[in-house]
Amino acid sequence: MFNSLALLSGKGGSGKSTLAVLIAEKLACNGKKVLLVDCDFGTHGMTYFFEEKLVDKDKYLSLIDIFGGEYKSKEILNVSENIDFMPSSVHFPVSLPIEGNNKCKFEEFLNWLKTLKYDIVIFDLQAGYSEIANIITSFSDKNLMVLEFDAVSASALRVLYSQLQKQLKKENTFQVYNKVSQVEHSLVLQMPKEILFRNLKPILFSWGIRQAAMLNIVFDMGNGENVKLREPKQGLFTKIKNRIFFKNEETVTDFSGGINELVGSLFP
Ligand SMILES: Nc1ncnc2c1ncn2[C@@H]1O[C@H](COP(=O)(O)OP(=O)(O)OP(=O)(O)O)[C@@H](O)[C@H]1O
Ligand SMILES: [Mg+2]
Repeated sequence: MFNSLALLSGKGGSGKSTLAVLIAEKLACNGKKVLLVDCDFGTHGMTYFFEEKLVDKDKYLSLIDIFGGEYKSKEILNVSENIDFMPSSVHFPVSLPIEGNNKCKFEEFLNWLKTLKYDIVIFDLQAGYSEIANIITSFSDKNLMVLEFDAVSASALRVLYSQLQKQLKKENTFQVYNKVSQVEHSLVLQMPKEILFRNLKPILFSWGIRQAAMLNIVFDMGNGENVKLREPKQGLFTKIKNRIFFKNEETVTDFSGGINELVGSLFP
């Protein structure tokens, strides 16, 4: 039996995938067995993140397989000690099948997952409303809304809330401001404790995280075939792991406090 957490946001780019990975890493360090599920069929940020681990793509279980038939024979990818990962799909572009009962298929999958070893399952959703967000939040134990400290994030969250109102209860849904600057931090502290949902302690902007996600990609937008990719020295996963979790002491000290508290509030 596991606890599940869904990360959502109204507006894109607020940091759901980044926080999902950081929360998973923190839980894994505490000895918990974590399954990260990329539920984003558009930006699939976590699948980029773990791409270098997905060498033999078809061997591994991905979320889209759940809706398409037999999946129990597939292997779940292990990416790090105590962390397994399921991409949304390894073949893009893709969307959920229109026919068939996707919710029932997902429920069946959750029942199967319960027979496996996980303590916590984290669902990283795409921004805004989607069918998969609707399905997942009808089963998730907890939900975390990730916002930037701006009006667009706030108003987009209200729209999402109006669409998922039945599932998003005050008792199990939290919100967190991410990428918060020092100036914003003092403003966040003046906000009411609860607006739509209870505010958890904000997560500061970290240059370590920002830099780790930078790739030297030069796109020729005029001609799709002529995309020039300056090979990064190492994969995104290794870069982020090195910077955030091990090598960059400055990042670790200025950042881990926020994540420790976040994980402590979500999984007391
Ligand atoms: N605390 C932080 N400090 C600095 N940069 C951050 C922080 N959190 C996230 N970022 C950066 O913000 C960008 C978007 O993050 P991320 O992909 O996690 O957002 P997302 O909500 O998953 O986006 P999408 O809606 O596209 O799925 C990335 O470049 C990431 O490195
Ligand atoms: Mg994402």
